Amino acid sequence: MPIRAKSRTGEATTTRSRGTDAIALLKQDHKEVKALFEQACALGTRATEQRRKLYGQIAAQLRIHSQVEEEIFYPAFRERTRNASDERQEVLEAYEEHGIVKHLLGELDATDPKDESFLAKFQVLKENVEHHVREEEGEMFKMARAALDKEELIELGSRIEAAKEEARA
Ligand SMILES: [Fe+2]
Ligand SMILES: [Fe+2]
Repeated sequence: MPIRAKSRTGEATTTRSRGTDAIALLKQDHKEVKALFEQACALGTRATEQRRKLYGQIAAQLRIHSQVEEEIFYPAFRERTRNASDERQEVLEAYEEHGIVKHLLGELDATDPKDESFLAKFQVLKENVEHHVREEEGEMFKMARAALDKEELIELGSRIEAAKEEARA
């Protein structure tokens, strides 16, 4: 387990996992989940066991990721942008998009990967996640970079890392 290095100047001596800014961490999650989706899409239609396994990993990642965004990142973003209308709208849309993803995860949890509807639902999940990631990276994260300074983003990054560790425990 990485140990948090304390430094008066902040950045230079923090360990990689504790000193990464929140946006970089969230983008890394996006990248990982994209890779898992790609692996799942490369499977033949009959590879149901592998699909089940990959789906389990994707679902777990998406749930933890949404949780840390909803509990840590979005509230901080909203607070620091003082609920300005465009920023507030971004966050409200993001919650709605998370809602759709959670609904789809619930449906997939209850569907046998051997069932042909599983693949259809899985494809819709992938498309929704891709859309949501585009919105976050193309809009919200850019707004957040402008509104929060590096130190705040690193602080949020530490809280995200800690919440993820707790969720995984
Ligand atoms: Fe995200
Ligand atoms: Fe999100």
